[in-house]
Amino acid sequence: MRAVDAFRAAYGRDPEGAWRAPGRVNLIGEHTDYNDGYVLPFAVPWGVTAAVARRDDDTLRLLSLQDATAGSDGEDAGPRPMTITEHDQAGGWSRYVVGVFWALRQAGHHVGGADLVIDGDVPKGAGLSSSAALEVAVAMALNDLYGLGLAKIDLALIGQKAENDFVGMPCGIMDQAASALSEEGHVLFMDCRSLTTRNVPLDLPAEGLQILIIDTGVHHELADGQYARRRRDCESAAERLGVKALRDVTDLAEALSRLDGDERKRVQHVVTENHRVQALIGLLRAGAVREIGALLNASHLSLRDQYEVSCAELDVAVEAAVRGGARGARMTGGGFGGSAIALVADDRADRVREEVTKAYDQHGWAPPRFLPATPSPGARRLL
Ligand code: GLA
Repeated sequence: MRAVDAFRAAYGRDPEGAWRAPGRVNLIGEHTDYNDGYVLPFAVPWGVTAAVARRDDDTLRLLSLQDATAGSDGEDAGPRPMTITEHDQAGGWSRYVVGVFWALRQAGHHVGGADLVIDGDVPKGAGLSSSAALEVAVAMALNDLYGLGLAKIDLALIGQKAENDFVGMPCGIMDQAASALSEEGHVLFMDCRSLTTRNVPLDLPAEGLQILIIDTGVHHELADGQYARRRRDCESAAERLGVKALRDVTDLAEALSRLDGDERKRVQHVVTENHRVQALIGLLRAGAVREIGALLNASHLSLRDQYEVSCAELDVAVEAAVRGGARGARMTGGGFGGSAIALVADDRADRVREEVTKAYDQHGWAPPRFLPATPSPGARRLL
């Protein structure tokens, strides 16, 4: 295993173990997690492997096999490990690792130092939650090595805390939970208030179907600021409506009649999106996976028009995919770039790809990347 070989080369000893956590796509339930709502993500085949060993002191040494900045010029010495004090703390990937140590210690756990090698293969910038994968892989490693006895959902919460309070991204729990708790061949239904989860089978090949990830290749800079703004819109709307969270809105028409402007639109999205998650679960339970496409389309329109987190590249991908014969398509993840997903019959997949590529070409955009989304295993120890 590459991470283990690199560990030996970098630190001159064996790691105590290696852990792997995946990225995710979200089938439906977008921008519902921080409204105490429902989500339905699943793990993708790509993720982060962490080879780790404890240290006797408090030092943290890190090495990422993808970290271009760590290579020494000219020589083929490859990336070199760095202590965190040496490492760029301003914006680098190491914040997610350090944040997990920090979050565990904040929660009162005894966690000493460690040597780590990180090897990730989540396509960069595709919005497939490489940061959650990194957090969960490291949290799981430290949980095992330091005998913390934490459950998988606790590891997800530690990852979210690292991201919220150390990195400064006010994300919900979906990405980390999907990484920690997914199972191969299943989607993860999660109630983000009670934090209860259920793995629901999704056997696409049996139906002659596949989910195609369309990576737009763009990430619009406004994403993070807009994410925080959406959260604030939702919180202020909930306050105005006198409910704890938008999850608690039971009479949508009555709620909308008391709101206007952005708050009104945000509530319309969140409340209907929660219903779409439950409707989709109902269809899966009924064995009607072929019928879920309309819900995907409706989710996209709601994210585009009510929640206003889509962008031209996502809209064009979704519209072209449907034109090419997809049964349904939507943006997935936070928005403003990243990826869309399309539910496609196997014998239509080529046409869908062609139609989307053609549409991108007509807009003068670089071709998107297509990736097959197979519901994959969640976080686990490899050795
Ligand atoms: C990002 C966040 C998640 C979730 C989605 C939108 O991926 O990290 O917590 O809010 O956006 O559904």
